[in-house]
Amino acid sequence: MKILFVCTGNICRSPMAEGLLRHKLKHAGVKAIVDSCGFEPFHVGDHPDSRAVAVSRKNGINISGHIARLFTEKDFDRFDHIYVMDASHYYHVKALARNNSDMLRVDYLMNLLIPGKNIAVDDPWYHDITAFERAFSKIDAACEEIIKTLLMKH
Ligand code: 4NP
Repeated sequence: MKILFVCTGNICRSPMAEGLLRHKLKHAGVKAIVDSCGFEPFHVGDHPDSRAVAVSRKNGINISGHIARLFTEKDFDRFDHIYVMDASHYYHVKALARNNSDMLRVDYLMNLLIPGKNIAVDDPWYHDITAFERAFSKIDAACEEIIKTLLMKH
C-alpha cells in the first residue's frame, strides 16, 4: 500500500500525518510506503514547522528530517491513496487529475472516520500550539483507521 498525505505548506499537517502513520505501521508490523507533500511553493525544501515537530516529539515521533515538496501529477501514479486535509487541497488535486481513475485515489483524510462529510483538518499554521495539538489528534484518529484496514488485509 502506498499512501500520500497532502496539505498546503507540507510543513504542518501532512508531515505530522506521515510521521504518525509511519509510527503506527512500525508498531503494527505492517509495511507500506508513506509520503507527504503540499501545494504552496513558499516552503519547498523547508523542514516542518517547529510546533509540528514539538507536538509530534511529545508523542514520541520525530518528523524533523522531513523536507517539504510540492504535489505533482506523477503522484497519481505513485500512490494508491491520496488523503487531503481540506477542500482547497481537494480542488487543487482535482485540477491536476488526468481522469476519473486519478480522482478515485483521492479523499479527505477525515472521511476515514466520518465518511462522506468532507470534514477538514483545519490549518493550524496561523494559530497557537493548541491548534497543532487539535490537528494532531484528528490525524491520529484517522491514521488509526488506516492501520485497522491494513491489518484486516494482512
Ligand atoms: P500546512 O500549514 O498546510 O499544514 O503545512 C501551512 C503552512 C504554510 C502555509 C499555510 C499552511 N502558508 O501559507 O505558507
